[in-house]
Amino acid sequence: MCKSRAEISRVTRSKREARASYDKMSRWYDVVAGHFESKHRDIALAQMNIQEGEIILEIGCGTGRSLLALAQSVDGSGRVYGIDISEGMLDISRAKVRRARLSDRIILICGDAADLPFRPHSFDAILVIFTLELFDTPEIPIVLCQWRKALRDTGRICVVAMSKKGKVGLVMRLYEWAHRRFPSYVDCRPILVWKALKDAGLHIVDASEVSGWTLPVEVVVAKKRYHPLEQPECDRTTENKKRSSPRSPTQVRQDSPKRPGQTAK
Ligand SMILES: C[S@@+](CC[C@H](N)C(=O)[O-])C[C@H]1O[C@@H](n2cnc3c(N)ncnc32)[C@H](O)[C@@H]1O
Repeated sequence: MCKSRAEISRVTRSKREARASYDKMSRWYDVVAGHFESKHRDIALAQMNIQEGEIILEIGCGTGRSLLALAQSVDGSGRVYGIDISEGMLDISRAKVRRARLSDRIILICGDAADLPFRPHSFDAILVIFTLELFDTPEIPIVLCQWRKALRDTGRICVVAMSKKGKVGLVMRLYEWAHRRFPSYVDCRPILVWKALKDAGLHIVDASEVSGWTLPVEVVVAKKRYHPLEQPECDRTTENKKRSSPRSPTQVRQDSPKRPGQTAK
């Protein structure tokens, strides 16, 4: 039977499979994804308006295609953290960071972004490019709530993801078929980005739709708080009441990030 237009495909591959497939893909990832994703990245980076001295987290930083630009924007007084589940992808990032001599301001961590190794209120901004749609539908609100907590009260998040919004054309139908048929290789699938961020208690400040290979992509920027006194439901935890110093780049928990083998399903 035909799936309804609003129905979001589920993610059936495990985290272990995701890591293995990105490890394999890492060497040629930039060649294949390079052209398709750069337009969206440029829009996202412009919308984020990163300032000198800011502390930024990129979730699913992959081969580091945004890390260098982020590091240039924060300058020597800021820091950029990148987290990714694949050591293979991170190895490519590490080489780029070394070549650019930016190791002093870029910190790379291997781990599952569903279990962030950072204290609440650590970041001025979070960037997520083509990674939110890799989490299964029930996991999306959970990870967004966690990422939201990692932001400072004045913080913002920018998510670029394949979009389920609007008319579903033939290319999208074919793509979703391929996602169901080959979940380890075609692992992105379209989701409702704007709605997911709004449902997670984030305040949308900018949303645009950009088409890539005729597949629609949403670029959404949202703030953690509309008003500094506001405290949505998902913030009301004891953990969150323990505020940490917001500016220090030593935000990584003392119990250091888990090794990839520990985080996989
Ligand atoms: C489609 S790629 C996008 C890479 C990068 N954001 C870019 O713009 O080039 C998705 C990235 O998310 C990573 N990833 C997948 N699942 C993850 C998870 N649960 N936690 C952290 N990273 C994850 C993959 O290893 C991969 O590097």
